[in-house]
Amino acid sequence: MTKRKVLVTGGAGFIGGNFVQYMMDKYSNYEIYNLDLLTYAGDLTKHRSIESKTNYHFVKADITDREAIISLFEKEKFDYVVHFAAESHVDRSITDPGIFVRTNVLGTQVLLDAAKQIDIDKFVHVSTDEVYGELDFKPTTFFTENTPLEPNSPYSASKASSDLLVRSYHETFGLPVNITRCSNNYGPYHFPEKLIPLTISRLLNDEKVPVYGDGQNIRDWLHVIDHCAAIDLVLHEGASGEVYNIGGHNEKTNLEVVKTIISALGKSEELIEFVEDRLGHDKRYAIDPTKLEKLGWKPTYNFDTGIAQTIDWYLQNKEWWEQIISGDYQEYFDEQYKFNKSSI
Ligand code: NAD
Ligand code: TYD
Repeated sequence: MTKRKVLVTGGAGFIGGNFVQYMMDKYSNYEIYNLDLLTYAGDLTKHRSIESKTNYHFVKADITDREAIISLFEKEKFDYVVHFAAESHVDRSITDPGIFVRTNVLGTQVLLDAAKQIDIDKFVHVSTDEVYGELDFKPTTFFTENTPLEPNSPYSASKASSDLLVRSYHETFGLPVNITRCSNNYGPYHFPEKLIPLTISRLLNDEKVPVYGDGQNIRDWLHVIDHCAAIDLVLHEGASGEVYNIGGHNEKTNLEVVKTIISALGKSEELIEFVEDRLGHDKRYAIDPTKLEKLGWKPTYNFDTGIAQTIDWYLQNKEWWEQIISGDYQEYFDEQYKFNKSSI
C-alpha cells in the first residue's frame, strides 16, 4: 500500500478527532499529522490510545500563523490536507463574530497558500450545509450542491467565505481541492455546548434542558463516523474541484431530538425549558446526498441506532464530559443562558 502523509487540522476537536482515529485504524501505512491550537474545543485526552504510535504526530499551531504553517508544509511535504480546524458554534458567533472571520476565513487562506507551495494531491475543505442558509418546512425541498450560498449567521458566513476561497484557489492556481458540506453531526466526543451532548449531559445531572423558541426548527442529523467515511471517500475518489453534500435523511425537530433522549434516559419531560429563540435561527436544514451516493457512500447509522450508540457512549465516558463542564464551560453556560438563569 502506498505511503501517504496526511495533515488533519482541528484533529483535537469533535469531528477532526473522530477522523484522526478513523484514519489511524484504517490506514496503518499513513503518517497522520494532527495540527490543532487546542482552543476551548480541543482536547488530546481522546487520543491517548494512539499518542505513542510512531505514525501519529501532534503539532500545536495556529492556522493563522502564516510563518509556522508555511514552514511546516515545506518541511513535511504533505500529500493530503483535510481541513477541519474552525470556530464551530453558531451561538458563539453571535456573541463574538471576529474570531470566526480570523480562524475560518484567514486561517483557511493561510493553509491554501501553504498547500499551493508544495505538490499536494488533495486539499479537502470540511464545510457545512449551513452555508446554504435555511429551507422552509416543505419536506420535499433539499440542499443540493447547486443551491445558492445564503448564509445567515456569522458562523455560516465565515464558512461560506472560506468555501469561496477554496474554490478560487482551484480555479486560479489549479489546487486539487474538494469541498464537503455536511449536515449536523453527533456522536462520541461532541462538545457539550451543542444540542445533543448538552441535552444528554444535563439530563444525566437532572438539570433543565434549554430549547430555543418553540423547538420546531429542523436539523438533519448524521453520525460522525458516517461523516468520517464520507470524507475518506471524497479524499481518495472525489473529482478535483467538486463539492459534495453529506447527509443521511435523518430530519428531526429539536423537540423530537430532546424527547427521544429524555425517553431513552427515563427522565421527565418537565426538564424541558423553552427559552428565548436564537437570533436569526435557521428554520430547517436537509441534505440531498445523491452526488455522494453515486461516488459509493452510504451511511451505516440511522438516527435511532446512532442516538442509542451516542447516549451509551456518554454514559460510559462520564469522566470525559464531566471534566469539560466543570471548567470554563460553566462560565460560558451562565453567560449564554443568563436570560433564563432563574429557571435553568
Ligand atoms: P470543534 O469546535 O469540535 O473543533 C474545532 C477544532 O479546531 C478544535 O480542536 C480547536 O482547538 C481547533 N481550532 C480552532 N481554532 C484553531 C486555530 N486557529 N488553529 C488550529 N486549530 C484550531 O468543531 P467540529 O464540530 O469538530 O467541526 C469541525 C469542522 O466541521 C468545522 O470546520 C465545522 O465547520 C465543520 N462541520 C461541523 C458540523 C457539526 O455538526 N459539528 C457539521 C458540518 C460541518
Ligand atoms: P447546535 O447543536 O448549536 O447546531 P447548529 O446551530 O449548528 O444547527 O443546535 C442544533 C439546534 O438546536 C439548533 O436549531 C439550535 C437548537 N438548540 C437549542 O434549542 N438549545 C440549545 O441549548 C442549543 C445549543 C441548540
